[in-house]
Amino acid sequence: MAANEQKKRILTGIRPTGALHLGHYVGALHNWVDLQNQYECYFLIADYQALGDHFHDIDLIRDSVLQVTLDWLAVGLDPENSSFVVQSYVPEFAELTMLLSFITPLGMLERNPTLKGELDALEVERRTVGFFNYPMSQVADILIPRAHLVPVGDDQSPHVEMTREVARKFNRMFGEVFPEAETLIGKVPRLSGTDGQGKMSKSKGNVIMLGDDEKTVTKKVRGMFTDPNRIRADIPGKVEGNPLFQYHDAFNPDTAQIEDFKTRYREGNIGDVEVKMALAEAINNFLDPIREKRHYYEQNMNLVEDALMAGVARTRVIAAETMKMVRDAMRISSYTKNWK
Ligand code: TRP
Repeated sequence: MAANEQKKRILTGIRPTGALHLGHYVGALHNWVDLQNQYECYFLIADYQALGDHFHDIDLIRDSVLQVTLDWLAVGLDPENSSFVVQSYVPEFAELTMLLSFITPLGMLERNPTLKGELDALEVERRTVGFFNYPMSQVADILIPRAHLVPVGDDQSPHVEMTREVARKFNRMFGEVFPEAETLIGKVPRLSGTDGQGKMSKSKGNVIMLGDDEKTVTKKVRGMFTDPNRIRADIPGKVEGNPLFQYHDAFNPDTAQIEDFKTRYREGNIGDVEVKMALAEAINNFLDPIREKRHYYEQNMNLVEDALMAGVARTRVIAAETMKMVRDAMRISSYTKNWK
C-alpha cells in the first residue's frame, strides 16, 4: 500500500452482556484478529445498546465491559494497533443517533427483519423505545468513525443496509459526509451449542467460555450432544450436523485424526467417548494460551483500563471531527455566529 493511501476503516462491535465463548471466537474474533493487520479497526463495546434488553441489570453490563476487554486481549486483539471503544465514553455516538433519527423514516425500523424477530421474542414490558431504536444507534456507531467495512454475521446485515440508506439520505440532503459502509461477512459458519440446538448462547447454557478451565471444558465436552440414534458404539453414526465433528473441524489441528474418526464413526467403529476425549484435548490445547493471557491481564487490570482509554481517546478525535462535519453540513453550528 502506498504511504499516502489511507487504510480503509472498520467498525464492529459487541453487546457487553457477559464474558465471551467459543461461538464468539469462531464467528467473529478469529476474523477480527486477521483484519486488525489490514485495516484501521474500531472495536466497539456497545454498552448503551446492551441497555436495550438488559436495563434491569446494569451491573452485569458494567462488569461485562471489562470481561469483554479481557477476552479481546486474550485472543490477541492489539489495543495499540486497533481502537477498543466503550460506547458510553464517547458521547458523539448518542448525539449522532439523535440527529439521524430525524431523517430516518419509522418504516426503516419497522421493516428491519432482525429487529422484528427480536421484538417479537421480547415480553411486552421489555419492548422499549430504546430497544426499538437500537438499529439507529448502530447506524451512528458505524458512521461516527466513517467506517467503510463492517464485519458481522448475517443477522446484522439489515443494520448495515440501514446504515447505507441513512448515509445516502444524509449525503443527498446535506452534502457528502459519510462513506457507504459495506458488510464483510465472515468466512466461518456459526458454531452450534454443545446441546446441538442452534447457536451457542449463554442463556441456553450450551456454551464453552474462553475463560473456562480445563476441567470445566472436559466436563462440558463429555456432556455434548451427538448423534442421538447412536445408542451403541457399533451403530453407524452421522457425522454431518453432529456438533462433535463441527467442533473437531474448528479446533483440532490434526486433520488426519479427524478423518480417521469420521470414517470410523460412519462405520460404527468408534465410541463417542474416544471422539469426545480427543475433542476436549484439542479445545484445551487451543484455549491454553488464551487462558494464560487472560490470567495475565486479570492480574494487571491497569493494562485493561489503559487499552480502553487509548481506544476511547483515538475515537474521540475522529468522533469530534465527524460531528463537526455533520453540524456544518446541517448548518446547526452556525447559530452561534449570530449570537455573539
Ligand atoms: N448489534 C451487535 C450485536 O449484537 C453489536 C453492535 C453494536 C455492532 N454496534 C455495532 C455490530 C456496530 C457492528 C457495528 O452483536
